This record gives sequence, structure tokens and C-alpha cells, in this order.
Amino acid sequence: MSFMNTTVASGLDPVGGAAATSGAPTAQVHALLADAAAHFRASLRASPKAVTYLRRRGVSGATAGRFGLGFAASGWHGLSPVLRNYDERTVQASGLEVVNGDDNHCYDRFRDRVMFPIRDRSGVIVGFGGRVLDGTQPKYMNSPESEGFQKRRLLYGLYEARAAIQAEQVALVVEGYMDVVKLSQAGFLPVVGTLGTSCTCAHVAELLSITKRVVFCFDGDDAGRRAASHAVEKILPHANDARSFGFMFLPEGHDPDSFVRDHGTKAFRALLAAALPLASVLQVQVIAGCELQHAEGRARCSALARKFWHALPEGHQRAELLDFCVGVTKLCRDQLLALWTGDH
Ligand code: UTP
Ligand code: MN
Repeated sequence: MSFMNTTVASGLDPVGGAAATSGAPTAQVHALLADAAAHFRASLRASPKAVTYLRRRGVSGATAGRFGLGFAASGWHGLSPVLRNYDERTVQASGLEVVNGDDNHCYDRFRDRVMFPIRDRSGVIVGFGGRVLDGTQPKYMNSPESEGFQKRRLLYGLYEARAAIQAEQVALVVEGYMDVVKLSQAGFLPVVGTLGTSCTCAHVAELLSITKRVVFCFDGDDAGRRAASHAVEKILPHANDARSFGFMFLPEGHDPDSFVRDHGTKAFRALLAAALPLASVLQVQVIAGCELQHAEGRARCSALARKFWHALPEGHQRAELLDFCVGVTKLCRDQLLALWTGDH
């Protein structure tokens, strides 16, 4: 454990991560995580307060079953009946326990939380997210990063959503576990969630291996707009003419869960249909904050667009971004291209 901590803290990429550094066989770690998930599911059935919590949030029994939701009881050693069947290295690699640095004492990482098992693309449980039932912080806790649990590569709900993504030829990316669960319950199935991190190139590439269209759903506040511009950066290298990207913004104060609860799936689908195309988002972003009546403002706009233009592959997006900038910068195409491709 201490070795694992040092590796991560020193910023080295732990090739192998927890499972490899601990030497635990991956199959054993996966078996333990599956047993733990079964234990959490049984604890949920036995916990009126957790069942009440999920019911209050509008999660049906069928939905809880579909996503394998569970409950980690309070107390420090609720998982002992499961953990005792595995060797120490496997337990350490699973991330289910926390080791106290002072006395090496181990205790359950997840306590008194609703548990969301996180599967990889083939359905194997590789980690968990756990939510408190009250206002305690942190609201969500996730399994620690390891080779087998990399938030930048995993998408919550992908295994459950894959068939729908293929059938509907669209993947919707949201930010929360509960958003995935509730949208799916509301009949909107092709939905996946990031794991409390922003969207990465690996996420985009994973989705583009099953569909040509990816739509990102953001809260309609400043944080949502910032997340959107971050997603744009990750998308640009993938934005060839065979693919399309959409940006859907919810009214301020809503996330997908609260929006479908208050307005229904039909209204949600209407917002989805009105998602902004990548080209529009790019145009908004290159002129944002630029005073286009001055040369300085137009230069700023051109500099922003230059970055995007270089990141885009050859194709319509790239050509039309150039056209748009010809319109707003008052430069001709060749002047702009000279600026963008020169040594600046
Ligand atoms: P939100 O705070 O938006 O939560 O976090 P939410 O999904 O709406 O959750 P509910 O509706 O209150 O249950 C979005 C996502 O960010 C991650 C989780 O993955 C969560 O689903 N997160 C959030 C964390 O990892 N830790 C936190 O403390 C909070
Ligand atoms: Mn929410």
C-alpha cells in the first residue's frame, strides 16, 4: 500500500497501477469486486433507509437492479465476510479498504453510502462510486485510481447503454451517476456518464468506436459552459466529416435527473434535438469576449480560431471555420492562412 501511494504521489504513471504494483492477479481482483457488489446489493435489500432514499429519488426497483445498485452499511468492517476470502494483495488492489498510514489498520472505504458499481466496456465491475444519503461531504466517493480503474478511460453506464447507442446511433454524455440511472429509467437509454472528471480524448474515442454521433449535455450555468469548452478541445481532433457532435444545454439550475423529473422525457428529447452543432459552438467560442470593432479584438478572435483550426482534421469543419473567420476578421482567406500557418 505504501508503495502504491508513493508511486501515485510521485506522479509516475503506474504502468500496472494498483493491481500490478500489488502483484494481485486481475482475475482475483475482479472476483472480489463482483462479490462485494453482490454483498452491497444484499445490504440494500436489508436497509430500509437506503431503499427509502432511492425511492425518494425516484429510482425504481427494476432500475436499481439494472444498474446493480447497492448499499455499503455504516461501520468499519461491513465487508469482512467478503474480504476474508481473498489474500491481502487482492484486497489492497481492490481499493475497497483504506489503510491508515499510522498503524496500518485497515477499514472499509465505503461506509453508509448508496453504491454504484462501475463496469468496464465488457461488463466487468472494476470499481464503485458511493453516494451519501444525507448532506455529508464528500457527496460521492470513488474507488481509487489504478490500472484497472482509470476514470479518464471509463464511462459509467457504457455496458448497459451499448446496444441502445448502436441502435440509436447517438451517445449522450452526462456528468452524474444519478443522471445516467434516471435518464435510462425515463426511457432514454443511450446515455453514459463521466466519473466526476471532465471528458477526455479516450472517452470520445471509445464512444466513436460505436457511434458516429456524440452529444454532450451540460448544466446551463457557468460551470456547464466551461465544461463545454473543455469538451470542445477533446473533440476537435476527432471531428472529421463522418462524425457529428452536439452540445445540449439544460436550463440553469437543472441537471438531467431534475430536468426529466420536472419536465419529462419528451421535453428532454426536444432539448436534445436542439443541441448546438460543433460548428456553432466553435463560432461562439472564437468571438466570445472579442471586441470585433477593433483590430485588437479581431486579432484575438483570429488567435483563438487558429488554435481550433490546427486541432481540426482536414474537412468541412476546418474549411468552414476559416470561412467564418474571414467574415469576422476582415482579412482575406490567404492573409488568415498566412497568419495561422506562419511562425507566430
Ligand atoms: P454532482 O454533484 O453534479 O452530483 O456530481 P449529481 O450526479 O447531480 O448527484 P446527485 O443528483 O446529487 O446524487 C456529478 C458527478 O461528479 C462526481 C460523481 O461522479 C457525480 O455523479 N462527484 C461529485 C464526485 O466524484 N465527488 C463528489 O463529491 C461529487
Ligand atoms: Mn443530480
